[in-house]
Amino acid sequence: MKNLKNWDDNTWLSSKKYIKDFCAFVENKKKLKKDTKILDIGCGRARIISRLAAKYNFKVRPTGIDIIKHKNLDNNIKFINISALKFLKRTRKFDLILIKQAIHLMSKKNQTILLKLCKNSLSDKGKLLIFSLKTKNNQIPVFKLFKKKLNISLKKDEKIFLNIKKILKNVKISNFDFKVSLKRSDYIKMIKKRYISCLLKMKQSEINSGADEIKLKYKNQIKFIDSLICITFTK
Ligand SMILES: C[S@@+](CC[C@H](N)C(=O)[O-])C[C@H]1O[C@@H](n2cnc3c(N)ncnc32)[C@H](O)[C@@H]1O
Repeated sequence: MKNLKNWDDNTWLSSKKYIKDFCAFVENKKKLKKDTKILDIGCGRARIISRLAAKYNFKVRPTGIDIIKHKNLDNNIKFINISALKFLKRTRKFDLILIKQAIHLMSKKNQTILLKLCKNSLSDKGKLLIFSLKTKNNQIPVFKLFKKKLNISLKKDEKIFLNIKKILKNVKISNFDFKVSLKRSDYIKMIKKRYISCLLKMKQSEINSGADEIKLKYKNQIKFIDSLICITFTK
């Protein structure tokens, strides 16, 4: 699959408010202290762990790993350009492991290996938080082909959730909801930059006509709720 480079490139997903609210959600799930060790798998531009690091000044810098190496990452985190499985096969322990909107990009076999490795890599009472798009009543603004691909992907996600529950067993489910309000023109730019995995394989002509559809379907200011499911596992 082509790489997902523009996910958090100047989008609501990298906005100060989103990162602040998301960090508050994480802090609510896991009490963070100066000696908390954090790993973010598929961290993208690592804004989440960078904000946490700025707030807590951890003794050990949080580790972010990703198969894409973005420029200008903050120095208060340790970024490793590596795939999740390769990294986790080295033994080390973390108090908090985040996998945000990344697990669906791996094969089912690798997801299973990943979950088992994460379980082993958690310290006593450590937490694993897995975030993924909410599958029911999802409000992500779409055009027809995008909707079709998103629905296929969300169906797959439901199977992923079942597999996660099967492997981790004792999990708690909650939701992270973020109110998005953005200019339609900015959303069209995101679509043209293929910000989400469903858009990666589309032909350029499909993206262009999709952008036209968005122009007709949505008002100048697009408002919706970006809802994520959070699966929490505690060791
Ligand atoms: C949708 S983005 C989410 C980024 C970030 N977690 C966030 O929510 O802002 C998914 C990220 O997972 C990364 N990724 C995909 N497969 C991976 C793997 N096997 N190991 C590490 N990172 C991976 C992608 O490169 C991408 O940056």
